[in-house]
Amino acid sequence: MENIKLYEPLDDKTIYFKDLINKRYTVRDFKDKAISIEDLSYVLWAAYGFKKDGGRTVPSAGALYPLNIYVACGDLEVKKGEKTQKGLYAYEPYRHELILIKNQDIRVNIAKAALSQMWMAYAPCMIIITCEYSRITFKYRERGIRYAHMEVGNVSQNISLAAFNRGLACGIVGAFNDSDVKSVLGVKETHEPLLLIPVGYKK
Ligand SMILES: Cc1cc2nc3c(=O)[nH]c(=O)nc-3n(C[C@H](O)[C@H](O)[C@H](O)COP(=O)(O)O)c2cc1C
Repeated sequence: MENIKLYEPLDDKTIYFKDLINKRYTVRDFKDKAISIEDLSYVLWAAYGFKKDGGRTVPSAGALYPLNIYVACGDLEVKKGEKTQKGLYAYEPYRHELILIKNQDIRVNIAKAALSQMWMAYAPCMIIITCEYSRITFKYRERGIRYAHMEVGNVSQNISLAAFNRGLACGIVGAFNDSDVKSVLGVKETHEPLLLIPVGYKK
């Protein structure tokens, strides 16, 4: 099993915030090009990483962070021309690492679980956000579910703005069969998939 140490997110250009927002739209057509680890590191950090001050990149009710971030990858480019293992990884924000949990390219199966939106399978990476509601409902009861849904909105917005900032593009998919996605991921029954975000370089 090979885990991937991610890079510190570094900016390589300056962009006005309004220009960044103007760039964002839902992209469903991607180049057949591996994502660089630098670009993926940046996007995952923006999604759920830690800031220099010890806080997180997104708000979370009661600072409980009930979400998990997975990445289903085709090839990732570690260095020019050097590729990593295709598979399913879990993003570990504390160590800013990808933990390999499945040694198999599952993108086509995820696209099938998403009501066969097959365009998704052509994205070099798919970010999958799941929630373990018990990690927030123990404190906020039913209302915790609402809070988790608000949090995933913050995470997905950070992902898309970070992606477009890095010259990547992404889609966003909420139409899928929950139990099919869970079984493709092989996650526990308690991890509810909330959003699928195909990421890649736009054609
Ligand atoms: C919660 C949510 C679920 C969505 N689900 C899908 C989806 O399953 N498939 C898809 O192609 N687009 C999906 N979209 C993308 C919307 O179709 C898209 O955001 C909308 O058409 C506006 O276009 P824009 O994002 O390019 O501005 C979803 C968007 C959101 C916010």
